[in-house]
Amino acid sequence: MIQTAIMGYGTVGGGVTKVIENNAGEIRKKLGEALNVKKILVRRFRDCPYRARMTDDFRDIEQDPEIRVVVETIGGVAPAYEYTKRALLAGKHVVTANKQLVAEKGCELMETAREKNVHYLFEASVGGGIPILHPLTECMSANRIQEVYGILNGTSNYILTRMVRNGATFEGALSEAQARGYAEADPTADVDGLDAGRKICILADLAFGHQVNPSDVPAEGIRGITLRDVRIARRGGYRVKLLGRAVRLPKGHTAYVAPHLIPETWPVANVEDVFNAIVVRGNAVGEVMFYGRGAGEMPTASACVADVMECLTSQQQKVIWSPDPAGFRNPAELETRHYFRIDGSLTDAVRAFGEVEALREDDETSFLTERMSGAEASERAGRLRGIGVNVLSRMRALS
Ligand code: HSE
Repeated sequence: MIQTAIMGYGTVGGGVTKVIENNAGEIRKKLGEALNVKKILVRRFRDCPYRARMTDDFRDIEQDPEIRVVVETIGGVAPAYEYTKRALLAGKHVVTANKQLVAEKGCELMETAREKNVHYLFEASVGGGIPILHPLTECMSANRIQEVYGILNGTSNYILTRMVRNGATFEGALSEAQARGYAEADPTADVDGLDAGRKICILADLAFGHQVNPSDVPAEGIRGITLRDVRIARRGGYRVKLLGRAVRLPKGHTAYVAPHLIPETWPVANVEDVFNAIVVRGNAVGEVMFYGRGAGEMPTASACVADVMECLTSQQQKVIWSPDPAGFRNPAELETRHYFRIDGSLTDAVRAFGEVEALREDDETSFLTERMSGAEASERAGRLRGIGVNVLSRMRALS
């Protein structure tokens, strides 16, 4: 019997016990031994079949020589960082779904794991149940990764889908997402783009081999998206989606999170509800898309338990990136098309931006610019203000 422990017993921690129990036969066949959850670290005890295994003292896990793998589902940096570090130093493998900790401290924790000849694995931290980090670092390792982009936050995608399809209010859709166990403990991390920001940092770390600090990555969420813009975009053949993007530039790389207009013909445009989709573009393989449930109890637990099994069957901590954040560029340098809605005319738009693609013109004008950097788009928007025209909304557009 292989002994494990879980730290944190919320949605994901509960899912881990269920996957280990429900799939015990499969797991035993693959490992040659059964997995058992010996201890669960909680802040508050509660009645459930695992009540007898609960502890509120981390040392009960740290000092138990039988426990070989610890699943960290506490979330956030404190106390998850300290407990993870101590568990690794005690010679235990650690598996996590905690994207904030991986984005901020992953490099150091992987190095500690390597020194202690154990693993620190975090497949569940990006894309919930979707295998993305292993394919990116193993199956695509012969490629130079040019770009990774995608829908990385299930809660925001769920809210957007409900608002657009069912006319739900923002608050109503958010409550539904919370009730389904998709949202973070503090859902502002979901709707304000921070959660997607942490995930795009992890993807960028792996794609480009250098630490990308969450504090350098601008993250805009879904609060500024209006139904008016969504409808205008639809009539023009576009969908509005919250995307995280990590892009290799001629010199360096960049990453950011923001709402985008994307052509309705792109597969990512039709990804709805809690589903995530991540596109990786490699210089040999071209574009590959990964799609599935990006949040929720069982999908996320599926990825955690697979990592537990990998810890027990593979030789050495493989994934690592440089702690040096060299090469990161401001995403304002990145060229795309841009969507604008202004309270002026098409003539005003042309005066400021040159050639544009008109999407709608009545008392307001909506249009797409040619490709230009974010900085140039801002400079030209300034020209509009100079002629007394206001920008009512603005987003990047891919095509
Ligand atoms: N709150 C996250 C989401 C959970 O909605 O995508 C998975 O990381």
